[in-house]
Parts: sequence; C-alpha cells; structure tokens
Amino acid sequence: MNNIVILISGSGSNMRAIVEHSWRERWLERFEAQVSLVISNDAASRGLAWANGVGIPTQVVSHKDYPSLSKDQARQAFELDLCAAIDAHNPSLVVLAGFMRILNPTTVEHYSHRMLNIHPSLLPAFTGLHTHERALQAGCKFHGATVHWVTPELDAGNIVDQAVVPVLNTDTAQSLAQRVLTQEHLLYPRVIENWLQSRAR
Ligand code: GRF
Repeated sequence: MNNIVILISGSGSNMRAIVEHSWRERWLERFEAQVSLVISNDAASRGLAWANGVGIPTQVVSHKDYPSLSKDQARQAFELDLCAAIDAHNPSLVVLAGFMRILNPTTVEHYSHRMLNIHPSLLPAFTGLHTHERALQAGCKFHGATVHWVTPELDAGNIVDQAVVPVLNTDTAQSLAQRVLTQEHLLYPRVIENWLQSRAR
C-alpha cells in the first residue's frame, strides 16, 4: 500500500484537492495509494474538520504542547512526536500542504526523496513568506506555484513542476493569491499522480 500522509496548518484546500482527486481518479485501485492520515499542528484548522467529516484519519501534533521545555527542546520534542505520528503509517510520500512550520534538517533528511512541498511562487524566486505581495512589488508579469522536494534549505529542493499565472494590472495580493491557489489545486494532485504512475511502472 502506498500510504500518503498530508501535513496542514490551516484551511487545507490543497489537501482537499488532493483527496478529492484521489477518489475521482481511483488511486486506490490504480496505484494501491490512499491518503491515510492528515496531521495538523493546529487543532482548530478547518482542513482537519473537513478530513474528519469525510472519514480520513486525522491527528493533531501541536508545537504548543511543550510549554515546560526550552524553545529548542520543545521544537525537538514536537518533531519527534510528528515523526512518530507520520511513521506509524509507513508512508511512501509525505505531503506538506500549507504546513506552516519549518522542520529541522534531521527530520527533513529522514524523509529524503519522499517529502513534497507546494510553495506559492515560481521558485527560485520569492522563497519564504508574502510571495504575492513581493511578486507585485517586483513588477512580475508572471507568478505561480511550485511543487518541490523538501531539503534542509528552505524552499530550495529540486523542482518537480510549476504552474504559471499571468499578473494582471488590476491585481491585488488577494486576487493574485486566489488565482495562484486555484492553480495549486490542479498542480499538486497532478504531480502526486505522476509520481504514483512512475512508481507503478
Ligand atoms: C498555499 O498557498 C500553499 O502554497 C502555501 O500555503 C497555502 C496553503 O493553503 N504553502 P491551503 O491550506 O492548502 O488552503
């Protein structure tokens, strides 16, 4: 079985797009693949409620659960618990989808070549936060999203695929973000399906 574990922090719209695509395209029959667990570091995240509602196993691993530890120790304890939750499903693929925590190199290396991330810019441009504002400020005519393998350096792993969105004269950061997100919902499921396809061959 190709278990896929998805990590989210908020609305989880990419996670939802992946799950719905996996059902529509019958990943279970075609690739013996399923989203077997959705983890959030925030119990209040909307995506978690959606996953619960459709019967996908969910788990909360909160970085705020270690108040008695020092910052470094808390981060380490959080990541150990996170890895334990992920590894319990023995996943073929770990998918970061709007997961807003930066992971330690040790954790990232543990999932080397099996952890994907989606980033809302055309990498290598605009790593980090506020990508839509920065693309507008820079006067970019094109913007978009990137799916890449996760490596210890932030947003710097090998690019798997990208979606390009033209920037309109009338765009605000919000309107641009919305159009990029719509493309992310097509891009991320497609990348994962291609990966499953090449694995099956
Ligand atoms: C997306 O724009 C993604 O690229 C970024 O965070 C956002 C998450 O949105 N990493 P959602 O939680 O999937 O709705």
